[in-house]
Amino acid sequence: MTDMSVRIGGLTLANPVMPASGTFAEGLAGVVDLNRIGALVTKTITRELREGNPLPRVAEVASGMLNAIGIPSKGVPYFLENSLPFYRRFAPPLVVSISAPTAEGFARLAAEVSVPGVTAIEANISCPNIEEDGRAFAMRAASAAAVMRKLRAATALPLWAKLTPNTGEIAEVALACEEAGADALVVANTILAMSIDLKTFRPRLGNVMGGLSGPAIKPIVLRQVYQCARVARIPVIGCGGIATAEDAAEYMLAGAAAVQVGTATFLQPNAMTDIIDGLDRFCAARGMASVAELTGALRREETQDMQLSEVMPTP
Ligand SMILES: Cc1cc2nc3c(=O)[nH]c(=O)nc-3n(C[C@H](O)[C@H](O)[C@H](O)COP(=O)(O)O)c2cc1C
Repeated sequence: MTDMSVRIGGLTLANPVMPASGTFAEGLAGVVDLNRIGALVTKTITRELREGNPLPRVAEVASGMLNAIGIPSKGVPYFLENSLPFYRRFAPPLVVSISAPTAEGFARLAAEVSVPGVTAIEANISCPNIEEDGRAFAMRAASAAAVMRKLRAATALPLWAKLTPNTGEIAEVALACEEAGADALVVANTILAMSIDLKTFRPRLGNVMGGLSGPAIKPIVLRQVYQCARVARIPVIGCGGIATAEDAAEYMLAGAAAVQVGTATFLQPNAMTDIIDGLDRFCAARGMASVAELTGALRREETQDMQLSEVMPTP
């Protein structure tokens, strides 16, 4: 038996596998034993009631899916009265994903959800910042640091920063979040993309552009996890196209301490528990006593990164 526990900042998780925000809802409890999952991560909540984006909100594309859901939210009172009591029935730590259009709004929301039963807060800073032309907070180090500093002052709970892959400076953003007080980094959200229906000449999403997820994004986000893990001292949680234990192992070798599974759960509701069992077997077959030994165990020559920097100057 492999020791499947991992440490994420001050938290110990029973295993490194958890859902990606927004791809997991209360209904999954009917088909998956949620007590087996490393942590439960909620859909992003906002302070205000939100309707979400125009339809259609999802479209299938080669090796993945596009979504422009737009974070529909029933607001904080609904979350505290309904969702929180539901999640408290299960043993794994509860991570609440939050979002706001301003740094101040993020801080207020973090304070409101810092209640008993909530173990950690995941700040979805991949969302638009209305004080900076709608660019996502996590696209730049300065705006990421500003929002994380406010959040750090607003809550004593462990604080995770969920980064956007839509930036050329993800390593700088990762470091800025760490310096501002984040306890972990989630790398990453969806990649901005679009698709066109050739029968109608119309965009296939009501919002025109949306986020690409699933196997199509795995090599890109794997590279970003590697870049972040090389510079950050806080743990990195990998998220992007993970569907199998081998995908999860790859992310851990690149430096992730844990992983989140999103789109794969839509295709196969048991994906997370299958990945937990598969990681156990993967480690046992290689004589590894603990799954945590995988983290950062990538073997490489120092010169290999110099070749990479020729094609991509960012660290
Ligand atoms: C339908 C859908 C809804 C999502 N909603 C959220 C959300 O509310 N908050 C968030 O931070 N990420 C959200 N995401 C992004 C996922 O959490 C994850 O970062 C992304 O899908 C990449 O992982 P995957 O390839 O395993 O799906 C959503 C993704 C999908 C497909």
